[in-house]
Amino acid sequence: MTVRTMTIALGVAAAAACAASLAVTARAQSEAGDGPRYRNGNELVRPDDYREWMFLSSGLGMTYEAERVGEAGSGARPMRFQNVFVNRSAYAGFAETGEWPDGSVFILEIREAVSEASINVAGSFQSELLVLEAEVKDSRFEDGWAFYNFGRAGAMPDSVAPLAGEEVARCIECHTDHTAVERTFVQFYPVALEIAREKGTLKPGF
Ligand code: HEC
Repeated sequence: MTVRTMTIALGVAAAAACAASLAVTARAQSEAGDGPRYRNGNELVRPDDYREWMFLSSGLGMTYEAERVGEAGSGARPMRFQNVFVNRSAYAGFAETGEWPDGSVFILEIREAVSEASINVAGSFQSELLVLEAEVKDSRFEDGWAFYNFGRAGAMPDSVAPLAGEEVARCIECHTDHTAVERTFVQFYPVALEIAREKGTLKPGF
């Protein structure tokens, strides 16, 4: 090996080592950092990568309040998909204990349901993003949880303050009285439901 080729070889090796260490750093950061990010106190920064998180399940045209039954898909209210995602570190904790760890972030994504497009003649598929809501379990909040609404697609702020007063009272009531695990609707997420059943963390009645 001439001095010149040796220098090039060393340079290549150094570059490779550097790239490898950068990759390790990036991975460590994303693993350590998928929890809630806040701005101006308790404003939740909208997680751009939630579509790379764990997918819990989808609901189609679900309505929760009795007076709305019959509205979904009946013309008065178009059919919509609701997709639920949770950050990976939270899911890993849940898989071990059946309880959501501090720093769990849930995203509820509402999308338009479309049919009779492309080759589709029956059934529905998901289309445009309509609304994003979020929920966080974090001991920084008085009762350990906070609810957020990022609003409609196209006009979503990068961060939003936690819902308060009347607005959050609705969320808390339904997410306390009708949820299978803590404040979450695990009864509608089949794989998480199996885990909770196995770990014995379902609320009585589930
Ligand atoms: C009347 C009942 C009800 C109310 C009120 C309600 N939710 Fe939910 N929420 C549900 C149900 C049922 C699900 C299960 C997922 C689905 O819709 O497919 C859910 C799921 C969620 C999820 C996914 C994680 C989880 O808890 O399972 C988030 C995030 C969420 N809701 C946010 C909110 C916010 C924010 C509010 C208040 C603005 C709110 N919800 C009000 C019934 C309710």
